[in-house]
This record gives sequence, structure tokens and C-alpha cells, in this order.
Amino acid sequence: MCGIVGVVGNSQTTDILISGLKKLEYRGYDSAGVYLNDQQGHDVLIKRVGKIINLQKALTPQDQGQAGIGHTRWATHGEPTQDNAHPHFSQDQRFYLVHNGVITNFAELKQKYLTGVEFRSDTDTEVAVQLIDYFALTEHLNAQQALQKTVQLLEGSYAFALMDRQEPDKIFIAKNKSPLLIGLADGYNVVCSDAIAMLDQTHTFMEIHDGELGVITNNSVELTDHNGQPVSRQPYQVQMDANDVSKGTYDNYMLKEIDEQPVVLRRIASQYFQSAQSQLSESLLTALQNADRLYIVAAGTSYHAGLVGRQLIEDLADVPVEVHIASEFGYHLPKLSARPFFIFLSQSGETADSRQVLDKVRKLNYPTLTITNVPNSTLAREATYSLPLCAGPEIAVASTKAYVAQIAVQAILAQALGRQKQLPAAQDFDIVQQLSLAANAIQTIVDQKDYLQQLASEYFAHQHAAFFIGRGNGYATALEAALKLKEVSYIHAEGFAAGELKHGTIALIEDNTPVVAFILESQTAAHTRSNVKEVLSRGAHPLIISKNSLADSHDQLVLADIDERLMPILAVVPAQLFAYYAAVERGNDVDQPRNLAKSVTVE
Ligand code: M6R
Repeated sequence: MCGIVGVVGNSQTTDILISGLKKLEYRGYDSAGVYLNDQQGHDVLIKRVGKIINLQKALTPQDQGQAGIGHTRWATHGEPTQDNAHPHFSQDQRFYLVHNGVITNFAELKQKYLTGVEFRSDTDTEVAVQLIDYFALTEHLNAQQALQKTVQLLEGSYAFALMDRQEPDKIFIAKNKSPLLIGLADGYNVVCSDAIAMLDQTHTFMEIHDGELGVITNNSVELTDHNGQPVSRQPYQVQMDANDVSKGTYDNYMLKEIDEQPVVLRRIASQYFQSAQSQLSESLLTALQNADRLYIVAAGTSYHAGLVGRQLIEDLADVPVEVHIASEFGYHLPKLSARPFFIFLSQSGETADSRQVLDKVRKLNYPTLTITNVPNSTLAREATYSLPLCAGPEIAVASTKAYVAQIAVQAILAQALGRQKQLPAAQDFDIVQQLSLAANAIQTIVDQKDYLQQLASEYFAHQHAAFFIGRGNGYATALEAALKLKEVSYIHAEGFAAGELKHGTIALIEDNTPVVAFILESQTAAHTRSNVKEVLSRGAHPLIISKNSLADSHDQLVLADIDERLMPILAVVPAQLFAYYAAVERGNDVDQPRNLAKSVTVE
């Protein structure tokens, strides 16, 4: 999704903006732009469609500033064209604005206030910047006041960074439901939609809450609420190294992140069980114990992790669990149990679909927990409790290590709750040992890259469709495996409950259609093998991934035996590598697949 950067008070503004925009590339974008002001009467606006390199090529050595704002745009309103790229500017070219989010009442505001204005783009953002200008002119307001007046009228989501040619030593900001941070650097300050963009400038950041506005200069930050009342906020340190977000010796992040999964599992075990302070508070466990039903809410890969979590929690903690797709749940709230507890799973902690559900359940005063990879994210901040994934920054758009981390943290939570309730299933479950076994087993899988690359080429790279089937946890894995293949290789893939295929979808099986079967649980292994026979007899090209104790000598890949409830942690890894190698063979950009964004901050 869109990314925002801004700098005030540094003569290297151009370089800082471009480097920050490059670090935000992973979020997905289709155009980029910067506005620079040298505070001595010279300013410049440059925007380009496509990659940041196009923007960089358009900049000349003279394009320098003491302050500036930059943006990567993921098109929502209007095509990805240069006119629609940000920054947008007011008719009189006084104000320049970058925006992340969607203003839902822009058409109404345009009609009410801006009938005589000539628009250059199709965007909601241009309406916002023209409105700021309109109020500045008609009501004789300064930039801060005009921005405040404007945001009071807006509906929807926004993170804004605004510059005014009349006050070029300031960046004006406002935020509602879209991420934005202030970074405090040495002699200058920055803004960004993700700390990753500015980690080489500072590790000291300040949160901005929904409804707040701010004015930033080289040496000051003033925050106010939407009525203009001052807000005081302590900065915090981001414990992340700029190296954590580098590719190292890898060609792309996706493979690096797949390879990091054993380390992630070991880190989770050590953070949750060996550091002095336990991550699981008494208060969280008591709130969970008081609940009569848990509702897991998530999107995409995180939703798939929730499906695996459900079985872990129900088995180990003996409490019913429902798993819901966030974008459906918020608008079709089911009849809830008497004492619900909500768990939000989100790598980024910024997913708008999940945020809208959190907003709703907070208003109903239900307790909430966010499990996220970004501890200071909005979902983490706004939930009653939060738990970290400890996966380290995940940069590739296709989520890999965050998925295994989400399952691991849910297993830890399930065991803690079950042990608190003194349930034998939880007493017998040794999660630390299981995570260690899983880490070793994943290492064995990623060490077989040559073989998995060969399978990816033979089964997927030259196909137009593929199916993944399984039962129970194998079904959850099939859904995630299909999503991975679709996202990066652009091959049409579907995950199905193995027993459901014969009820219609089997009609799609043709000669050589790849069908991957996950055989991960003893209870259903024989039935899933029968389903494989059904597709085989219709010409499919089956690829069987099984658990060692359930394996047959013809299976293409046999995984180590760990607790069946955790088998998805292992089984997803070959599927991630199939997706990766098929995408590479097809010449795709694996880290930034077409049309996708890392952090989906619009509903
Ligand atoms: O940051 P989140 O976990 O909330 O993101 C949810 C989905 O957008 C995300 O999992 C998406 O499906 C990924 N592209 C999957 O690889």
C-alpha cells in the first residue's frame, strides 16, 4: 500500500527521501513522487509511474531541499498515472500533500466546496489538498488551521504529510486509521508510514494516534488532538537494526525469509520461555479463561494461521474457537457468545479489514488480543493485550515466516491457557521441545532446495492451474499453499478440503493437472489417499507431502514427525518453495508481485 516519507531540516533531504521510499517498496506501489523545498525560494515536484528508479533518474543534482515529502502510491482512486501520483498540489501551487488511505466522502466535499476548481487528477487526495487551500484562502487560515478544518470534514482513512510554500521549514501531519510515525533525528526530524523507512536516520520514534495532528520542524514536534488541544507523547526506541531489513547475500527477501524460519521458531521459544519476563501476563490468561468462546479474526495468510490455531486452542485449552475473515466479520457480526474474547492475527498490525473489526468490538467492551510482528502497530496498541511474533521484519509481500510464527505463538498461548486450567492435554504438550523439533525439521526441508526447485519446475512452472488438498490441518495448509502459489507465480491455484473435491471441483482435473496432497494426520490419512486415487484416475499429476509415520514409499516428500497439530508449520515450507521457484522460473518479481501490497491499509 502507499508509503509516506518526509524530512525537515536536513540538506540531504533528497537522498533521505529516496532511500526511505526504496525501503517502503516492499509495501507494493505503482508510482512514486517527491516535493522538495530548499527554504530559499526554490522548490520542485517530481513524480513518475513505475519503479523508484524512474523517479531517481528524473531528479537532477540541482533538485535538493532542506525539507521534503515523498510517496509511493498503490492505486485506489484512478489509474496509476503520473497525474494521479503523489504529492498532489493545490490550484495555486501553495500546498503539497502526500496521503495514505481512502477518503470516502471526497465526491461530496468536492461538490460542496470546490466547484470552480480545476482538478488534475482522479484522486481523493487532490480533493483534500484543494480543500486545505480553499479554507486557507476563504477563511484566512494558516496551514495548520486549514488542515485541522479539513480533517474535521473528512470521512475514511488518512495519514497526511503536508507542506506549505509559505512555511517551508515545517511539515504538517494528520492521521486517522492509516499508519504514520514521527522520527526524531539529530538536528532534523522525519515522518514515515513505517519505521523501516527511516531506521538509518534514527531509532527514536513517536506514535501519532487517530484523530491527531502535528507540526514538525527541524527541532520541534507539536501534537494536538482534532480540536487543537495539545497532546504530549513520549518517544520510544525501535529495537531493530538497519541490517535486519537488508537482503544480505540473497537475491530477494522471500527466500531469505523462508530460510529464516528455523531461527524464528528458536527465537520465539527463547523469547517466550527463557527471557526473564514472560510474554504471557496473568491478566491475559485470566481474561482468556473467563471467556466462553474465542473469536480469531484475520485476513489472508494470517487467517490461514488462525485455522491452524483453532485446533491447537480447542485441543489444548478446551474452549470453543471460531475463525473469521476480517472483511466479512465486521459487517456481518454473528450472534456472539455471552463472554467472547477476540484474537487478531496480523503480521503488519495495520490491516484495515482487521482494524475495523477491532474498532467495533472495542466499542462493545469485549477483551481483545493482537498477535503481531510489529509491536507498536495500531492493532497492537488498540487491543487490550498484545503478543509479539518475534519473526523479525518480513519484507517480501508473500508472508512466510510470519505464518509459522503465528502458529507457534498460538500454540504457546493454547498450552499456557490449558495449563492454567490444569488440563492433561496441555500438561503433556511440550511446546519448547516441539518448536525445537520443528526448527530442525524445517532446516532439513530448506536444505533440499535443489530437489524442491526441480519439483517446482516439473509440477508448476509450466502449468496454468494447480490444486492443493488435505483434511483438517492439511486443509488449512492447502489453503495457504494455494495462496502462496497464486501470489508470486500467478498460476491459478485452489486449496480444497480433500473430501470436497469430488462434489464438483474434480470436473476441473485434466491430464497432468498438478494436485498436491497433504497427509498430515493419522485420522484422515487413508481417506486423503483415496482422494488422491480419484484424481489420479482422471489424469492428475499428484504430488504427495506426508508425515513420516504416515508415509508411503512413493510419496514425493516425507516430513519429520512432530505433534500432528503443529505439522502445518513444516508442511507449508515446501509449498512456499514451490511458489518461490515457480515464480523465479516464470521471471516474476517474487518480492513485489503484481497488484499486491504488503500492508493492506484500505478496506
Ligand atoms: O499484515 P496482515 O497479516 O494482517 O496481512 C494480512 C494479509 O494481507 C496477508 O497475509 C496477505 O494475504 C499476504 N500477502 C499473504 O502472503
